[in-house]
Amino acid sequence: MSQGSHRRAADAQLSAANNLQVLPKDLTGRQVRDTMETWAGSLGVHCDFCHTADPKNVGPNGRPRMNFADDSKPDKQIARIMYSMTQQMNKDYVSKAMDLDKDGMGKPVTCGTCHRGHEMPEEFVIPREEHRVVRAEARNAAAGSRRDTGAELALGRHEFVIALWPVRRVARARRRLVY
Ligand code: HEC
Ligand code: HEC
Repeated sequence: MSQGSHRRAADAQLSAANNLQVLPKDLTGRQVRDTMETWAGSLGVHCDFCHTADPKNVGPNGRPRMNFADDSKPDKQIARIMYSMTQQMNKDYVSKAMDLDKDGMGKPVTCGTCHRGHEMPEEFVIPREEHRVVRAEARNAAAGSRRDTGAELALGRHEFVIALWPVRRVARARRRLVY
């Protein structure tokens, strides 16, 4: 089935939205669809991540049609909680911060703010650059300040090893590295 016919088949069903519990009930089918595409894109998933197919409602292509009103997938329920949470964060908190932050650069929280294309928000890892600077400072403090700039760049690449070694062995390790 082509993307286009997928879209038309889904559009036809969208007009009958009748189980909206958190989205505004006066949304048009098109607006529901646009919201859904944003959610799916923000999580990096397809519609069937939250919606079930109805085996009793088989389309002309022989495949079951989606039953978008059905609530049996936990992820659909979670998405409702997430939507309400996001709305509340913006209404009760982010909007207040925006009022104080006069630069006009304020952005509301969206699904994508946390999810960034992943089903589950990824753990944040502090960028390596900062690790390197922090560790280099610790090394310098321990080993006394040395001529270091090039060595630190080289050590940066080996930091995953270095991190496991006692600080006092770092000076020896450093001599073994080729810069
Ligand atoms: C992250 C979960 C999630 C994804 C992905 C998702 N949906 Fe939904 N969808 C929901 C939730 C939750 C509702 C109910 C909203 C409410 O209760 O107000 C809903 C409702 C709908 C409805 C209205 C059903 C009715 O009768 O009330 C349609 C139609 C729909 N989705 C289509 C889609 C399409 C098409 C896609 C893919 C582009 C999609 N959804 C992707 C969670 C999702
Ligand atoms: C403030 C950050 C944040 C925002 C905003 C957010 N989420 Fe989430 N979301 C999370 C976290 C954290 C989890 C993991 C919760 C857990 O452990 O079950 C999660 C989990 C989920 C899951 C379950 C995923 C899985 O694999 O079990 C769904 C579905 C989901 N979010 C949908 C949404 C949708 C749709 C929106 C926007 C309407 C949204 N989220 C907005 C933080 C966020």
